[in-house]
Amino acid sequence: MASGTRTLVVCPYPTRTQRGEREPLRSPEARRDEAVGLAQAIDLHVTGAEIISLGAIRPATYIGKGKVEAIAREVKDSSIDLVVVDSPLSPVQQRNLEKSFRCKVIDRTGLILEIFGRRARTAEGALQVELAHLAYQRSRLVRSWTHLERQRGGFGFLGGPGETQIETDRRLIQERMVRIERELEGVKRTRGLHRASRADVPYPVVALVGYTNAGKSTLFNRLTQAEVMAADMLFATLDPTMRLITLPHGGLAILSDTVGFISDLPTMLISAFRATLEEVRAADVIVHVRDISHADSDAQSQDVESILTELGVADRTDRVIEALNKLDRLDDDERAMLAQDHGPRAATPLAVSALTGEGMDHLLSAIEDRLARGRSLVELTLDLSDGKGLHWLYEHAEVMSRSDRDDGLHITVRVAPDQVERVKRRFPVSETHAIRSEVH
Ligand code: GTP
Repeated sequence: MASGTRTLVVCPYPTRTQRGEREPLRSPEARRDEAVGLAQAIDLHVTGAEIISLGAIRPATYIGKGKVEAIAREVKDSSIDLVVVDSPLSPVQQRNLEKSFRCKVIDRTGLILEIFGRRARTAEGALQVELAHLAYQRSRLVRSWTHLERQRGGFGFLGGPGETQIETDRRLIQERMVRIERELEGVKRTRGLHRASRADVPYPVVALVGYTNAGKSTLFNRLTQAEVMAADMLFATLDPTMRLITLPHGGLAILSDTVGFISDLPTMLISAFRATLEEVRAADVIVHVRDISHADSDAQSQDVESILTELGVADRTDRVIEALNKLDRLDDDERAMLAQDHGPRAATPLAVSALTGEGMDHLLSAIEDRLARGRSLVELTLDLSDGKGLHWLYEHAEVMSRSDRDDGLHITVRVAPDQVERVKRRFPVSETHAIRSEVH
């Protein structure tokens, strides 16, 4: 799918009777907007998006005959090259729709696979996505093969001289999947090694998670734009979604961007998606970026929370900071409501705008505060001539305060628990030294 492909997005929405008792959390308009956003994420040129009510699912075409004809007309009139159907289609339905529309058709799973394929930046992510893609293709082959088998009366001679093209394809896919699984094991092993070497880097990890389109990349770029450092290059080459940021008191942290969440993720894509979120589990702080201006903000938030739980991020309140993004889109009344809604929960959720930069200082302070939990404050007195020592402290600790006095430089630093001993070794403990833990 070339970028700029003229695309029509079709969103079949089940009628009330189809939906059953439980009302879906999302409105059809929000689902349509999400589908358009997904199509745009791979640079398709969306010329139109339609919600069509879906009564009973038609086995041959998924949607009803009248709708198929209407879409076919629009495809012709607007010179559409691609129709995205925001539902899961069977291979037969996809083929029939392509025939009727006289253009390419992809379903929701196909679209998401395409996005994951473009976003997968780590070796493991790319392999997981390829695996999902192959499983997707194979499921389609199996189904049409079963269909053929039925036509032939159920004999299905496997292998041998009567082997059909589909069976050959299926075998090739299977072989490729086995190879990828083996490669994945290798990648997971080396990832373990990378992790180990990263553990030597005394920087905590801050992971951005959130719904697709919530503004993670915009926030990532805003928070990292000031940084041009040699050490940063190491991470940039390892993985472009990781950069160093400087916290208000000079501490450094690795900021890590992740693939966005998508509602109703097709089951076969879940492990590919999880692979991209592995890092989150090990993160010291997780910033949950929410589009506060989105009509479905709450439903999206629930989805993210449940995935975090599945990932094993149980101690959420300790590690997760909510960044309520796109604050610039709210008017004064909405802003006041926001403050009211989130007022009692102390300062936890932070209103920000990645676009204008509003609230960035607060967000960075909040990240710093979270990281400071469990850290120790150390008060030292440095000989005024110990420039090297001072430099060391700025490199390895957060300098909270300093004042020149007659007996030397009084300095308070905050350090990670595993660094306390190092500080004590470098600056021998004396009467004037005090070590205390941060209390929150
Ligand atoms: P995925 O990569 O799909 O997961 O999306 P993302 O979460 O990285 O979102 P991205 O940063 O690409 O932003 C999505 C859209 O929202 C873009 O058009 C941004 O310009 C816009 N956006 C991001 N932050 C803000 C904000 O604070 N205010 C406004 N008005 N728009 C924003």
